[in-house]
Amino acid sequence: MLEQSIQELESGSQRRIQSASSLEELEAVRVEVLGRKGALDQFFKQMGKLPPDERSRAGKILNSCKQALEGALEARKQAFADAALRAKLDREWLDLTLPAPGPRRGHLHPITRIQRELEELFASLGFTVLDGPEVETEWRNFDALNIPLDHPARDMQDTFWLDGGNLLRTHTSPVQVRGMERLGPPLRMIAPGRVFRNESVDASHEHTFYQLEGMMIDRDVSVAHLLYFMKTLLTAIFKRDVTVRLRPGYFPFVEPGFELDIKCLICGGAGCPVCKQGGWVELLPCGLVNPNVLRMSGIDPEEWNGFAFGLGLTRLVMMRYAIDDIRQLQGGDVRFLEQF
Ligand code: DAH
Repeated sequence: MLEQSIQELESGSQRRIQSASSLEELEAVRVEVLGRKGALDQFFKQMGKLPPDERSRAGKILNSCKQALEGALEARKQAFADAALRAKLDREWLDLTLPAPGPRRGHLHPITRIQRELEELFASLGFTVLDGPEVETEWRNFDALNIPLDHPARDMQDTFWLDGGNLLRTHTSPVQVRGMERLGPPLRMIAPGRVFRNESVDASHEHTFYQLEGMMIDRDVSVAHLLYFMKTLLTAIFKRDVTVRLRPGYFPFVEPGFELDIKCLICGGAGCPVCKQGGWVELLPCGLVNPNVLRMSGIDPEEWNGFAFGLGLTRLVMMRYAIDDIRQLQGGDVRFLEQF
């Protein structure tokens, strides 16, 4: 009687174990059958009431039933673990023989690109490309360029002064001085680079921006030479007709000095933040080199003269790519730069 009940319990439990679809179901069977107050435990308790010879027989059967069920549970658990592992491997399977995707390629910053284009253009016209330090002496940034002590450009507002009297150059013009000192006349040079001004930042002003300085010193250089080079320069950059106007402009290092403006390419002259609503953008201040400047760098103005210009590279990039906020150029947002 007891034997039959045990066999029924065993076969019933086996079926449940084999058909369980989760670890939770298996655990429920274990608790119900093999747990401390489970079905088998009940049989062990009844066994105590049997006469001794039947008791040992029932004990054997109960033990073998217990072992069989424990073994089956363990095997099923293992099967679940194996299936989970297989699923994980399937999910994470990698083909190590596939070729790698390769590094993502970047590109040059639009300012660098224009700078290189202009370097190439001027090199083809016989100009040397010079580099100068961003930390300059007061002499080369101001005095040697004939900028008098009371000139507004020396105002504390505009210049980042450094300890010891040096400064962050406020323009690339000090490289003219370096060019004259190092190479002497005749001289054809350009100097692209970063310049710094202590300005409050808005859509058209940055404390850090780029210029490209140019200088030519020879015998009998005239405004006609200057205009020729400026026109060549603008045609090369914009690859189309741009409307320009020439105004007298005052810069201590040139005489006469000019402001060469171009009609704003962002708004077509109607007025926008880049042209400060004026329709024109100051792009290319220039002029004939002031004889004082030549003299201070040891060049005889009786024998030599020349022209100079200071192109706003940052503004130029904004015009060429229709960028209406200067802050985006150095804002470090790759999504912005990826457009160019
Ligand atoms: N250095 C001037 C500036 O930053 C620009 C400039 C004007 C440069 C006239 C020149 C020049 O070489 O001839 O405002």
